[in-house]
Amino acid sequence: MSPDQPSLFDESNADNAPSMGLAQSRERAAELHEQLHQANHAYFVLDDPSLPDAEYDRLFHELKDIERQFPQLLSTDSPTQRVGAIPLSQFSQVSHEVAMLSLDNAFNQEDMHEFNRRVSGRLDSSAAIEYACEPKLDGIAVSLLYADGVLVRGATRGDGSVGENITQNIRTVASIPLKLLGSAHPPLLEVRGEVYMPKSSFESLNNLARENNEKEFVNPRNAAAGSLRQLDAKITAHRRLEFCCYSLGRVEGAEMPPKHSEILAQFSRWGFKTNAESRVVQGVEGCLAYYQQLAEKRHGLSYEIDGIVFKVNQIAQQQQLGFVSRAPRWAIAHKFPAQEEMTVLEGVDFQVGRTGAITPVARLKPVFVGGVTVSNATLHNMDEIKRLDVRIGDTVVIHRAGDVIPKVARVVLEKRPANAQHIQMLSRCPVCDSHIERLAGEVIARCAGGLVCGAQRKEAIKHFASRKAMDVDGLGDKIVEQLVDEHLISSFVDLYSLALDSVAQLERMAQKSAQNLLAAIEDSKKTTLAKFLYSLGIREVGVTTAQNLEGHFLDMAALREADLAALTAVPDVGPIVAQHILNFFAEPHNQVVIDGLLEAGIHWPEVAVKTAEHLPLAKQTFVVTGTLSLMGRDEAKGYLQSLGAKVAGSVSAKTHALVAGEKAGSKLKKAQDLDIEILDEEAFIRLLAAHGIHHGQ
Ligand code: IVH
Repeated sequence: MSPDQPSLFDESNADNAPSMGLAQSRERAAELHEQLHQANHAYFVLDDPSLPDAEYDRLFHELKDIERQFPQLLSTDSPTQRVGAIPLSQFSQVSHEVAMLSLDNAFNQEDMHEFNRRVSGRLDSSAAIEYACEPKLDGIAVSLLYADGVLVRGATRGDGSVGENITQNIRTVASIPLKLLGSAHPPLLEVRGEVYMPKSSFESLNNLARENNEKEFVNPRNAAAGSLRQLDAKITAHRRLEFCCYSLGRVEGAEMPPKHSEILAQFSRWGFKTNAESRVVQGVEGCLAYYQQLAEKRHGLSYEIDGIVFKVNQIAQQQQLGFVSRAPRWAIAHKFPAQEEMTVLEGVDFQVGRTGAITPVARLKPVFVGGVTVSNATLHNMDEIKRLDVRIGDTVVIHRAGDVIPKVARVVLEKRPANAQHIQMLSRCPVCDSHIERLAGEVIARCAGGLVCGAQRKEAIKHFASRKAMDVDGLGDKIVEQLVDEHLISSFVDLYSLALDSVAQLERMAQKSAQNLLAAIEDSKKTTLAKFLYSLGIREVGVTTAQNLEGHFLDMAALREADLAALTAVPDVGPIVAQHILNFFAEPHNQVVIDGLLEAGIHWPEVAVKTAEHLPLAKQTFVVTGTLSLMGRDEAKGYLQSLGAKVAGSVSAKTHALVAGEKAGSKLKKAQDLDIEILDEEAFIRLLAAHGIHHGQ
């Protein structure tokens, strides 16, 4: 069979249009190349998709099918050839015929003026020099070689004269043309630029690493470098890298335009991405203004930049200026202040937030980073300290980008001194000396002194006075803040001994409104136990839980003495809420405040015992036997009692139902004999849930 006559049974073609001959397929493949290259360029270089994804996929697969059928039509510049190469065992070396230079740096305006003076002096020019300005992309430099418009080699910069051949990986970067667009391609063209990882790709890559418990990349530049230096190009293909060109390397057989900016414009017509922020300015003043503009825009860009590169725009002038050691005299990188610097962690302070959250804060040897001097940085919480494995005495890297609060990015382990100290969470609040609690499963540690803690005072009093709590009419947030700031109150209790004169002296407070406020405070003394409980601001005790606590314990004394089992017997109170309640009452400072409030005259009508009629299992007698797997028998009894049931010790004809766990013995037998309803543990849990008791939550 000739190659023009593919088998009708070729599976790649089985459900497609009738197969074409080689000549027709060659023509179609060329059309598809053109369409796919254009679509790729529109999508990845211009950010302006020209084809719907589905259509792109369809054309792509059509080309793949043709290439499968006629392997002789497969070429390295085919749009299908971005991935798929076999992993390498090592990279081969390439020499750069035109050395890949680096840049001198300028760190301030004076350095820039000096650069400009040198340039003007050497060119013997009194006219303003024309400069091309480009963001300095924070990625890695690569060289791309095109022969007759087709990408034939991609290489790293290496030491400037010898780099590594990374062609397979370069092909996977979607914004790099495999074949130049447009026309008049030089027989040989070397385009240079930066491969970089956009911020969003970097973040998703690191999120993934975190989820898989793998090591994260330190910054987008490292991630780009690590991704490009993969021997298996399939890995590179999964990293979303971009390429932006910034200079010409070798060129043979064609005349290039006389200005750097025009060369870039030509590159753009050939299908390369050029930086959208690039501009041409006149003189050093133009450079400084551009630097300022970009410094402000920097954090809004989708990629990292670490400065601005200024290049003399006229190529003839560039040639006149030449090079010194490894850097051109015609270009300079004006760096932004570094966003990361090293310093020493001298200690850790603990701050108490408005809601009692305790935040460890790093005390640092002051360091200039991101344009300001930083002497503190948040460490967030103890989990973060563990994750960073940071100790006092460590050298740490501080990161500050834009206006974002500085953070400790990582520890420089090589510099850890022998006497580095572990960081311990405090056991008592640095503001009010109450206990610090951290419940199992919670990341944040909190001060338990909600009622007395200076850091939490304003929030606690605002909550206390709010409508669903003590409902003090007229005691809004602003007044609470004034009262605390003026030291007229430091806890709830003080509200009840406020003097009219001092209230009336507050800003924007007339005598009449002061009188009204005191009357409202007096009024608030008459409340309900549930409202009072809610007003205390116990963590996770909302209005409903407060009502359930009231209904169950009936008075404050019983609640103050309740243990974990008694608390979890209350409908809707699980072990976590119960623990919050226990911690709250275990704090002596809180007890003092409650006593003070009761002495001030807060009172409520006696809570009527919910009688038989009110409770769902009233007048029913239950017996509990056997071993329950999820709770103790006493806990089960507590739940039943809270629902109004009587719990008896033995089964009789009066028994309504038997709750029977594992290894139930004679009681189970007797209940069966008497034909009494038997609930296994599962049925019992369902019964509780039906009445709002969710054990274990
Ligand atoms: S021009 C002879 N332009 O900065 C000039 N470099 O420190 C060579 N870079 O290795 C470079 N953005 O990786 C140039 N717009 C830009 C750049 C840029 C980033 C990097 C490049 C180079 C390093 C020099």
